[in-house]
Amino acid sequence: MEKLILREEEFKGIAAIVEAKSGIHLTNQKRNLVFNRLRPRLRSLQLERFSDYLRLIREQPEELALALNLITTNVTRFFREEHHFRFLEEQVLPAVAPRGDIWRAWSAGCSTGEEAYSLAITCREGLDPKVRWRILATDINTHVLSVAQNGIYPRDAVAHLPRALISEYFDIDGETAKVKESLKKNIWFRYLNLIDPYLPLRSPLDVVFCRNVFIYFTRETQRDVLKTFHRLLKVGGHLFLGHAESIPADWQREQGWVHLEQGVYQKVEGKVSH
Ligand SMILES: C[S@@+](CC[C@H](N)C(=O)[O-])C[C@H]1O[C@@H](n2cnc3c(N)ncnc32)[C@H](O)[C@@H]1O
Repeated sequence: MEKLILREEEFKGIAAIVEAKSGIHLTNQKRNLVFNRLRPRLRSLQLERFSDYLRLIREQPEELALALNLITTNVTRFFREEHHFRFLEEQVLPAVAPRGDIWRAWSAGCSTGEEAYSLAITCREGLDPKVRWRILATDINTHVLSVAQNGIYPRDAVAHLPRALISEYFDIDGETAKVKESLKKNIWFRYLNLIDPYLPLRSPLDVVFCRNVFIYFTRETQRDVLKTFHRLLKVGGHLFLGHAESIPADWQREQGWVHLEQGVYQKVEGKVSH
């Protein structure tokens, strides 16, 4: 078999189709990453050239979905950026009225589910038990979604949580920690591509967590997705972004966001330009 190489033109072709389909912008520095992540797939298909693989992903949507599963970065953990969950528990949840509408949160780009389960634990701990609540958790990567849905993690993944939370929300079995059904029942895991123009979401939402997803998008895509979040959130609803992500001041004014603390924004009535 010939030595496999990812030529510049092939990389550009793959990057273009990945960006068009997912919004993920692959700079030239990502060429090695793309090579390393796709190489095993080419080997198993017995392809000798990336140009052949490029043709395949152009022609076969299933293969493109698989390539996206390989290319997305899915690093996450329970209670990542813990201050966001503290903010929710202390500043947001106490004000939710028990007899109001269903309280809805969305974990957008949920990866393997740890963020959605952390949100659910925070709701169970911080909401009045009479409040009805739901969490929608979505991702473009079908593989991570099935992990999320199963809710089975290495025991180490929960080792940093307080013991009381572990025993309340997980069944520990040998080296695995399994999320209890009582926690899973309020969470819906679904495939959803954030750049699709039509998002089948029931609004209005109370909270959106979209953390460590924007870093992969171009500014233009970030701006469009922010407009979608603004449209779907209630006035007064909260948006949480990752530690390296923010909404520029001019977009805050233009779309109607107020910055509350690191990564936390609130929707205010505002002029949203389309
Ligand atoms: C680094 S993970 C972040 C996980 C979690 N939000 C956190 O902060 O721990 C980024 C996730 O965004 C997802 N993603 C990337 N582009 C997406 C898109 N266009 N639509 C939906 N999800 C996307 C990836 O599949 C990946 O699981």
